[in-house]
Amino acid sequence: MLGDFTYSNPTRLHFGKNSLEKLNDELQNFGDNILLTYGGGSIKKTGLYDQIIQILEDNGKNIIELSGVMPNPTSDKLREGKKIAEENDIDLILAIGGGSVIDYSKAVSVAAGSEGDPWERFYLNMEEPDTEIIPVGSVLTMVGTGSEMNAGSVITDTDSKLKIGHVYGEEVMPKFAILNPELTFTVPEYQMKAGIFDIMSHILEQYMSGDDENVSDYISEGLMRSLIQASREAVKNPENYEARSNLMWLASWALNTLISRGKATDWMVHMIGQSVSGFTDATHGMTLAAVSPAYYNHIMENGLDRFKRFAINVWDVNPEGKTDKEIAKEGLKAMEDWMDEIGLVRNLSDLGVTEDMLEGIADGTFIMEGVDKVLDKPEVIEILKESM
Ligand code: NZQ
Ligand code: ZN
Repeated sequence: MLGDFTYSNPTRLHFGKNSLEKLNDELQNFGDNILLTYGGGSIKKTGLYDQIIQILEDNGKNIIELSGVMPNPTSDKLREGKKIAEENDIDLILAIGGGSVIDYSKAVSVAAGSEGDPWERFYLNMEEPDTEIIPVGSVLTMVGTGSEMNAGSVITDTDSKLKIGHVYGEEVMPKFAILNPELTFTVPEYQMKAGIFDIMSHILEQYMSGDDENVSDYISEGLMRSLIQASREAVKNPENYEARSNLMWLASWALNTLISRGKATDWMVHMIGQSVSGFTDATHGMTLAAVSPAYYNHIMENGLDRFKRFAINVWDVNPEGKTDKEIAKEGLKAMEDWMDEIGLVRNLSDLGVTEDMLEGIADGTFIMEGVDKVLDKPEVIEILKESM
């Protein structure tokens, strides 16, 4: 049975090859001072930076730049952004990039004007914003996180090695997002593949819990089937527009929170993966790929019906003459074969994790309650060891 819920998603999306033109319309809704946030320079190489500057100038905007937002954005960088935003009376933060730049921009939008240290308040202590939030808009260049259409923001504190995500309220969601699949053609292969598994993981974490029939599960199965198909095409030919456009739209669907309404969710893979990144700065999607098989094999018997359904409806496993456990195992094996086929990282050691880190990674892992199987720390360590 579906639980009670409220659903609202205010992000306006502009999708397609010509979607950047819509930035002109969007800019009419905001004041003149634009904080342009971006990463390490890919947008300069691709020419997107010049196009955006031109659009901003044509619309008479004042541009304040905040560059160098790194993958797994840090608390120090957040403090820098807070200061710049406060000094410049910003009307809109325009994030050009992937999840890191958009997450970071949301963090700055909350931090600007607030008292105290933003890492401590909004991440470590999970306080809710109590000052006016600067609007954020985005031009997405890398697909996977769904940050373009949700209220999540993940920040890493390098001193404590903690990586924490805060899912804020609706007011922190981007006001608009521009999604041109062609902008993702230049994403490095490793990042593209990490993004593909990030999408899979987001769907799985909302699908692999609860045991009721509900509409979300059918949507999730469709999304996963489409993801498997599109990922195979994109890996063969990264400039396949059909595949890249499907990946882009899938990523937004996977984490705009629609498919989690009214049902249980289990975000343990993300909790472990985040702690791995806190320790190693490893690429988000690859941390999830490295731990997922061990995690799902670990919890399989606690949700056998669900795993059986996953095997049959997503991976076309033939159930005839097999026990439920055999079917479930075959489904997970099919997922692992697909992971190998598209070339995902399968071991934590390949991400720089060493045995002496496992204790600390387990300590930095937030244990979720209300899932089919609530883990304890020794189990987290066991999963980490199996993932090495
Ligand atoms: O910095 P630049 O030079 O732009 O290079 C980036 C970066 O190195 C590059 N890139 C992006 N678009 C490109 C491109 N290179 C060439 N051409 C393009 N078009 O890709 C690299 C990775 O970018 P990043 O933004 O870090 O990747 P992603 O989108 O995977 O974001 C990861 C971050 O999002 C968080 C993760 O934890 C991680 O910190 N997440 C956010 C979530 C949310 N808001 O809901 C949920 C996710 O589960 C995730 O935790
Ligand atoms: Zn993710």
